[in-house]
Amino acid sequence: MNSAKTKAIEVRAASGNYSVVCRRGAMAQAQKAIARLGKFSSVHILSSPLVWNALEKKIRGGIPARLAPNVHLFDDAESEKNLQSVEGLTQSLVGAGADRGALVVAIGGGVVGDVGGFVAASYLRGVSLVHVPTTLVAQVDSALGGKTGVNLPEGKNLVGAFYPPRLVLADPELLTTLPEREFRGGLAEVIKYGVIADAKLFLFLEKQMDAVLRRDAGALEHVIRRSIAIKAQVVSKDEKESGLREILNFGHTFGHALESVTRYSRFQHGEAVAWGMMCAALLGHEVAGTPADVVSRIVALVRRMGPLPPWPDVKPAVLVSAMRSDKKVRNRKLRFVLAKKLGQARTFDDVPEKTVECILRCAPQVFVKPVETLGKCND
Ligand SMILES: NC(=O)c1ccc[n+]([C@@H]2O[C@H](COP(=O)([O-])OP(=O)(O)OC[C@H]3O[C@@H](n4cnc5c(N)ncnc54)[C@H](O)[C@@H]3O)[C@@H](O)[C@H]2O)c1
Ligand SMILES: [Zn+2]
Repeated sequence: MNSAKTKAIEVRAASGNYSVVCRRGAMAQAQKAIARLGKFSSVHILSSPLVWNALEKKIRGGIPARLAPNVHLFDDAESEKNLQSVEGLTQSLVGAGADRGALVVAIGGGVVGDVGGFVAASYLRGVSLVHVPTTLVAQVDSALGGKTGVNLPEGKNLVGAFYPPRLVLADPELLTTLPEREFRGGLAEVIKYGVIADAKLFLFLEKQMDAVLRRDAGALEHVIRRSIAIKAQVVSKDEKESGLREILNFGHTFGHALESVTRYSRFQHGEAVAWGMMCAALLGHEVAGTPADVVSRIVALVRRMGPLPPWPDVKPAVLVSAMRSDKKVRNRKLRFVLAKKLGQARTFDDVPEKTVECILRCAPQVFVKPVETLGKCND
């Protein structure tokens, strides 16, 4: 096997360095990889009933009975990503006798990773953490970068900590049981990496989208590995989201607004980002000089993810106002990540509101008309 394809990817963050192992069968090797981290007084798997039912056999194969893992399950619905779950899990750790030398292994999607990571960050002021992401989103995005946390009734991810894991084990074989909509939503983030940082990944997706959608093992491993390498590189340079890390938000200014005006009920996050990336491509054409053929390619690739829930029936001004109240917006100024060409993106913070509204009016048509016929947006 080509060693470049099996070597661990290193993340170097101010809060700590860690390796990301991304390959088929990584879960089966978990025991060895964990042993390399040192000795732990006890091992605690944090997961959800859904993930556990789907993957118990594979998990027990990698973390065998001789490590005597304690299993703590909690409901991983987004509505349960809250402080009550943190309280329940930490009490369960106390009950199992976890001390400062304990290891927490968070096995699941982004919800398990965010809650489990925050539990590891705060229990006894911090115990060791290993992430085993089991959704596409978690493998290419949420398990990397050290962000952990929970929601409050007042908003998403309002309480949390930057807490680096000791290790991330991303095994594409764990994705075989993932529901179709979750899988397709995750592809939006993969396409995003191609647009912002890797034209070759974008080209690979154009050629191999059918194989990726079939979850062909080789194609999947390749795109996940490239996505991880890109996120690792970005967060290594900029852990706390000041400059470079912002490019990871390509499609997200629009996407978050769509999620927010539909009260997080119509779109899966990736689906909103998919619409958002098409909008960002069009906006790029208007203000960043993105050539029409690049816009067409982005839109065409996003469309191949499969059908998206329809654009909501809201006025562009309502979406713009949702963008302004996003917690990441500074001074209520609209900021967009736009790609001048494939593989290269940067933030623009002086986009006229009129142009944004115009894109929002055009956007619903993008699905029904080829983009070349849209021309310049001048209504
Ligand atoms: N920390 C970060 O940097 C970061 C980044 C992106 C997203 N997030 C967070 O991640 C969360 C979304 O995560 P997600 O998209 O991974 O979805 P998720 O964690 O909500 O999981 C989606 C569903 O898939 C199930 N599931 C997970 N793995 C499975 C498997 N292998 N087989 C069968 N079912 C499986 C889960 O039980 C759940 O029902 C959000 O809360 C979001 O805020 C965090
Ligand atoms: Zn996202």
